Amino acid sequence: MIQRTLVLVKPDGVQRGLIGEIVRRLEGRGLKLMALKMIRITPELAGRHYAEHKGKPFFDGLVKFITSGPVVATIWEGREAVTVVRTLMGSTDPLKAAPGTIRGDLALDLGMNLIHGSDSPQRAEVEIGLFFKPDEIHDYVRTADRWIVE
Ligand code: RTP
Ligand code: MG
Repeated sequence: MIQRTLVLVKPDGVQRGLIGEIVRRLEGRGLKLMALKMIRITPELAGRHYAEHKGKPFFDGLVKFITSGPVVATIWEGREAVTVVRTLMGSTDPLKAAPGTIRGDLALDLGMNLIHGSDSPQRAEVEIGLFFKPDEIHDYVRTADRWIVE
């Protein structure tokens, strides 16, 4: 199934100079970049994006962190893109993330875990709507795609 997913390079990834590394891993896998921008997430947007975590003990710290500096927001499309991105990211806690994953190779802290990826196709569509206007999303033909999926 062809899916779209929202990926954020979190403030720690921007600060550490890992934007290119993270984008490279997703591009290299064969996913197609449909949108990309740098933004500062407002507390309101953070609350909507992380609505499922409202009331949990880590919620306030999570909002503080995600609003603490610019992030890079992206949309990726491809075969099973939601699961593929979650697998590339690795476990939420970088100490448990497998080597070869973004978090398993590049992070050490549960809060500063570099990357967000939507956890279901339904959430992906909601999150894409929160972060992007329709005219910011590019639905183009990429000639390499016929060498990625038959
Ligand atoms: P994300 O939403 O950021 O892509 O991460 P995720 O799906 O792997 O993890 P999720 O359960 O959605 O949690 C969102 C972020 O909250 C922080 N967190 N802290 N202290 C804690 O127990 C705890 N649990 C989660 C993590 O930074 C996680 O990325
Ligand atoms: Mg999540």
